[in-house]
Amino acid sequence: MPEVIYFDRGTLFLLDQRALPRKVRYVKIKTHRRAAWAIKDMVVRGAPAIGIAAAYGYYLGYAACRDKGSVKEHMREVREDLLSSRPTAVNLRWALDRMEEELEKLSGREGDTGAGLLKAADRIKESEIEANMKIGEHGARLLRQTFPGKKKVNILTHCNAGALATGGWGTALGVIRTAFREGMLESVYADETRPRLQGARLTCYELFNEGIPFRMICDNMSGFFMRQGGIDAVVVGADRIAKNGDVANKIGTYMVAVLAARHNIPFFVAAPLSTFDFDTPSGDGIEIEYRDDSEVLNIGGKAICPAGTCTKNPAFDVTPSELVAAYITEKGAVRKTDELQ
Ligand code: MRU
Repeated sequence: MPEVIYFDRGTLFLLDQRALPRKVRYVKIKTHRRAAWAIKDMVVRGAPAIGIAAAYGYYLGYAACRDKGSVKEHMREVREDLLSSRPTAVNLRWALDRMEEELEKLSGREGDTGAGLLKAADRIKESEIEANMKIGEHGARLLRQTFPGKKKVNILTHCNAGALATGGWGTALGVIRTAFREGMLESVYADETRPRLQGARLTCYELFNEGIPFRMICDNMSGFFMRQGGIDAVVVGADRIAKNGDVANKIGTYMVAVLAARHNIPFFVAAPLSTFDFDTPSGDGIEIEYRDDSEVLNIGGKAICPAGTCTKNPAFDVTPSELVAAYITEKGAVRKTDELQ
């Protein structure tokens, strides 16, 4: 797997996820505004990964501030530019809050504030990857407990919650990776995930690179395979989990959760604590990003509908907590979010 996000000599390098799997190329970022653009344009995507990119963007914003007398005002603008790039994933705000706290701490001390901020961004990246590894272990244990008599399981996942979405290893795909290494995985059903095809392009890319057996299926096929008995469990990631456990994730997740409930298939959500938003009481309070209609009306740059066709393009939906069998976090798997507060 190529490195997803790294920082080298004043430049942030982002693996261009818009070009995968056809091309492996990097976009170089030297300013916070360009980092905000890269998040908005989905060069980098996935909740933890955009948090990490925003943290480096925040550092770049600080490094560019020439007049240290007006640093507070300047950094308020930097934060706002980054925060407004995508509204749904709470990891963006979480990472910027960490960076802001760090700036506050460093400002009162002797020493190189910029270097301290860069270290803080590195720490955010490292801690997200460590959390993913633990999520993988807890998730594999949960699967073992859920299917005690079964040797191997088939898992369906939606969108991409892998290394590409997190900086390394993955949340939902982290569980799948660990289960595979522990010999418990039969195969993965990867939803294609219209309209941006994160499942087809990115999840399949990761699974293929790792030699994990998988099938890509169109989004409208999951009910068919669930009814056939081919799917044992669903594991997805999340962009924001409200206090009551409602889960905002890629559009189509809700549909999969309802189908899973209909077929008595456990629906698991794998996410680090940075994705939990205890300030938002329920999913009703989560802002859902709407993206450009052209993403829906075109495939591979070609129009698929008659000219003038109208559509809507919500990028996320909310799955009510009652459909979630467990939340798999770095602290362990829990049935209710109360156990984490
Ligand atoms: O629009 P995207 O590609 O950023 O959406 C990503 C998802 O919905 C992922 O499932 C979510 O961020 C979890 S990533 C660990």
